[in-house]
Amino acid sequence: MTHAPQPTTRPALILPSFLWGSATAAAQVEGAAHEDGKEDSVWDAFARVPGAIANGDDLEVAVDHYHRTAGDVAIMSELGLDAYRFSTSWARIKPGDRAVNPAGLDFYSRLVDQLLDAGILPWLTLYHWDLPHALEEQGGWTNRDTALRFVDYAEATYEALGDRVQHWTTFNEPFCSSLLGYAVGVHAPGRRDEAAALAAIHHQHLAHGLATTRLRELGAEQIGITLNLTNAIPADPTDPADIDAARRVDGIMNRIFLEPIVLGAYPTDVAHDLEGLGLDTLVHDGDLETISAPIDFLGVNHYHDDLVSGHPDDSGADGGHSGATEREAGSPWLASPDISFPSRGLPRTAMDWEVHPAGLRTLLVRLGHEYPTLPPLYVTENGAAYDDVVAEDGRIHDVDRDAFIQDHIDQVELAIADGADVRGYFVWSLLDNFEWAYGYDKRFGIVRVDYDTQERTIKDSGLAYARRIAASRVLP
Ligand code: NOJ
Repeated sequence: MTHAPQPTTRPALILPSFLWGSATAAAQVEGAAHEDGKEDSVWDAFARVPGAIANGDDLEVAVDHYHRTAGDVAIMSELGLDAYRFSTSWARIKPGDRAVNPAGLDFYSRLVDQLLDAGILPWLTLYHWDLPHALEEQGGWTNRDTALRFVDYAEATYEALGDRVQHWTTFNEPFCSSLLGYAVGVHAPGRRDEAAALAAIHHQHLAHGLATTRLRELGAEQIGITLNLTNAIPADPTDPADIDAARRVDGIMNRIFLEPIVLGAYPTDVAHDLEGLGLDTLVHDGDLETISAPIDFLGVNHYHDDLVSGHPDDSGADGGHSGATEREAGSPWLASPDISFPSRGLPRTAMDWEVHPAGLRTLLVRLGHEYPTLPPLYVTENGAAYDDVVAEDGRIHDVDRDAFIQDHIDQVELAIADGADVRGYFVWSLLDNFEWAYGYDKRFGIVRVDYDTQERTIKDSGLAYARRIAASRVLP
């Protein structure tokens, strides 16, 4: 993807139909990791590997959403949310990938009913990284058969909830569950094998395409996928090494995920970069037609840009690239040990990610320009971790997170004014939760969770988000 200039325009009016939401994911919030028939997911197993998760944290209780949906839905109502983006756990619905577990489906059925009773749209994601561990033991996403098992799971979930859930997202951020899980090893299942990661990418694509077709046959009308997309910007736009490094990062973070779905083909330059990893044998006749089955929306998760240099970085400063661990792990996945992510000297979040709200506008506008056949966009995740402090009055005056969210929403409005077809915004996250390899230390919630008592307190950022939602409903 290339970079379009950004003219300064005034924000457009957010339409009354614009969806305001917040997001979570099953493994990060539910807990009840072995209750009512749920079995291990790859993340439950990964959490038992010494050193895999900060502080030795696990997912057993998380923020106990499993037992607290009534209260959590009440908080969503208080915030005025239109929609709640959550994921279903494959290991709860088809534990060990055996027969369907009715108790698992009942949990989601109750949640959906509670949401609908509160007038909140359920926005369901089928795969937010928690593969049943039993399937990983059969090769996980390196095994083509896992794509077929995913369709069985999608079908069982649709049969139970399809009468009430309109919006079906197949995958969340396949970049993480393929690359970070199978090549870099910092996510479950913790493998470090580049060919395995490429197989995981292709089989997740295939699973997406097969499930899209099946859900459509079953009657689903709103089907999409959520990708984490970034602006990969050459540090020096006149330096050929930086330009090529940015191309490779763009290829492996954006285009390898976007183009098979939108264009029905893997990008040729990326396929060339990855020569020798077996893409040719992975792709069977007809796969790309399956993968490019039409979708109704694209979810975009965005947290930060990536300034990319084609030279080694010896300054020690990193721009906060989410895959920085790729280099720490010594992975040549990005096809060159020379790629670095220089700092722009911008403020950073607790994840060490640089804050640059205008990047969201750039991204949304570019997507529309560069992929004109894309369906409507939804920002399905955006938000920030900061080290919160509970003030003497018991409140959380999280000014940095508040500014982050408000500034990014401003940029969504500017993108809409520029012509981007953006139909909604979901803040990540509703609740503080299990931030994967970082455990519970990194708090993204607009609602604080006291991990000792499970008490919830809406942070100032949440109160401001609620005011913004309310203000958008007032006609000028
Ligand atoms: C994206 C992921 O979908 C979500 O699970 C994660 O917590 C956030 N990014 C923040 O890192």
